[in-house]
Amino acid sequence: MKILVINGPNLNLTGRRQPDIYGSRTMDDIVASLRHDFGGVTIDYFQSNCEGAIIDRLHEAGFGSEYAGIVLNAGAYTHTSLAIADAIAAIETPVVEIHLSNVAAREEIRHRSLIAPVCRGTIAGFGEDSYRLAVEAIMQF
Ligand code: DQA
Repeated sequence: MKILVINGPNLNLTGRRQPDIYGSRTMDDIVASLRHDFGGVTIDYFQSNCEGAIIDRLHEAGFGSEYAGIVLNAGAYTHTSLAIADAIAAIETPVVEIHLSNVAAREEIRHRSLIAPVCRGTIAGFGEDSYRLAVEAIMQF
């Protein structure tokens, strides 16, 4: 089974960026732990700060049977990008929305997710375990 993790803007700075909110482990650490913990699953990883690149990757991964699911942390695009929401709606592969932080407990602008209605489900607030929980959810699809 293959699962694709896509991270959006600023998540390349995870570990250095506001560690009180996003934790002190880097995405390299987090992806390495996922690969270690889910030995039987191939976990591909893609990060971009550009909306169009995220959409292109969703299109590439979103048809056919290569990926059982996509774990998507769209970062701030979660709250703004109708284009990413349209891409998720357009593809066939199920997408799980995740966030490191509990966005519902933060500023009001973070309470609205444009992508939530077109994702299979949402996991937020568990730090790096949000990625782990999303992988577990996809394994049960
Ligand atoms: C985030 C939450 C977003 O509101 C924020 O813009 C991010 C990270 C999270 O993982 O908690 O960049 O998606």
